[in-house]
Amino acid sequence: MSALAKNYNRRKIAFKKGKGSFLYATNGKKYLDFCMGIAVCSLGHANPYLIKAINKQSKKLWHVSNAFQIPEGEKLAKRLTQKTFADSVIFQNSGAEATETAIKVARRYFYSIGKPKKNRILCIKNSFHGRTLATIFASGSKKMTEGFGPKIDGFDHFEFGNHHSLKKSITKYTAAIMVETIMGEGGIKVIPDWCLRDLKKICVKKNILLILDEVQCGIGRTGKFFAFEHSKVKPDIVPIAKGIGGGFPIGAVLMTKKVASGMTPGTHGSTFGGNPLAMSVGNAVLDQILKKEFLQNVKKNSQYFHSKLNILKNQYPKIIKEVRGVGLLIGLKLFNDQANFIKKLMDNKLLTIRAGENVIRILPPLNVKKKEIDIALKIIEKVCREYK
Ligand SMILES: Cc1ncc(COP(=O)(O)O)c(C=O)c1O
Repeated sequence: MSALAKNYNRRKIAFKKGKGSFLYATNGKKYLDFCMGIAVCSLGHANPYLIKAINKQSKKLWHVSNAFQIPEGEKLAKRLTQKTFADSVIFQNSGAEATETAIKVARRYFYSIGKPKKNRILCIKNSFHGRTLATIFASGSKKMTEGFGPKIDGFDHFEFGNHHSLKKSITKYTAAIMVETIMGEGGIKVIPDWCLRDLKKICVKKNILLILDEVQCGIGRTGKFFAFEHSKVKPDIVPIAKGIGGGFPIGAVLMTKKVASGMTPGTHGSTFGGNPLAMSVGNAVLDQILKKEFLQNVKKNSQYFHSKLNILKNQYPKIIKEVRGVGLLIGLKLFNDQANFIKKLMDNKLLTIRAGENVIRILPPLNVKKKEIDIALKIIEKVCREYK
C-alpha cells in the first residue's frame, strides 16, 4: 500500500535514470520520453551543462532569504527583461504560483492608481492556470473546483473562440484578461495570432491588462522564446515556469514597468522563490536556449515532425482527426478516447501525455534529435496500423 495520497492516477511504471530524450525504467526497459515531465525538462534528462551548473552552485550557496541581494536572480531577471517585453520579474517556484502572482500584480496595479474596484479577471471557460484555490476558480472548470468551495470570487469567464461571449463579459470592473497563449491541458488549442491582436486592441481600448499564461507554451517550446511573439502582441504580464527550470522548480512573473509600480515592498513574497540554486539553473537553461541556433533548430525539427504527423493523419483518417499545436507543443487529436492509444504508445516505449478533447500531447525536449523524432513517428505509425 502506498503512503502517498491518491490524488494522481499514476501509471504503473517508475524510472531509475534519464539521459537526453530517454528514460530508463526499473522494469529494465528504455523509453523515448516525449512527455518530459509535461514540458518541463526543456533540455532533456541529465543534461551535462545543467548538471555542471547545479553542481557548481550547490558547492557555493543554496539558499538565502529574499531579505538580501541575490546576484544570480538579478542576472536571470536582467536577461529575461533584455530578451522580452518585460521590465521587471518576480521569481516563484511553480506555474500556479506564477499565475496567482500575475493576478495579484494586475489587481494591485489598479489599486495603486486609485481604482480598487477594477479587480475582476476574465478567463476562458475550462482553461488551466494551476491548482491553487484562486487558479482553480480562474479556470471556470467544474471538474477542478468541485468540492473546493466556497467559491473564490473575482473571476468571469468567456467561451474559447466566442468573441461575442468575450465582449459581453467585459465590464468596467475587469482588471485583466488572462488566457493561455496556447491552451495546453485543454487540448493544445492555439489562440490565432489575429485573435491575440484583437484581444490586445480590446484591452488597450478598455484599459484592461493582458495576462498571457506561458507556463506551458513559453521558453522556446514553439520555436520563439514566447508563443505570443508569433503574433507580435505585447502583453502586460506573463507568468512562466516549467521550461525555465529544465526540471528544477522555478516560476516567475514578467511584467511591464507600469504594472510593476504597484508591487511595492511587502506586497508579495516567497521563501524559496528566486534562491541562488534555482537561479543558477535558470541561467544555465537560458545559456542554452538563447544560443543562436537553438530556436532555429526547434523550428526546423518541429516543422519536420508536424509534416510527418500530417502525412500519418492522411494515412489514418479514421484514427487521427487533427494535428494541433505550434513548434514542439504538439497535439494529436483522435476520433476516439485517447487513453488506450497512449497506453499502446507506452507499450511500444514511447511516452506521451493526455490533454482535453481526446488529444495526445507530444512534448519532446527542445534539443530533440531528428532521429529520435523518426523513432517516435515509427511507433505512432505502428500503433495506428494495429488500431485500424
Ligand atoms: C498554462 C499553465 N498554467 C499554469 C500551470 C500550473 O503550473 P504548476 O503545475 O507548475 O503549478 C500549468 C501546468 O500545467 C499550465 O499548463
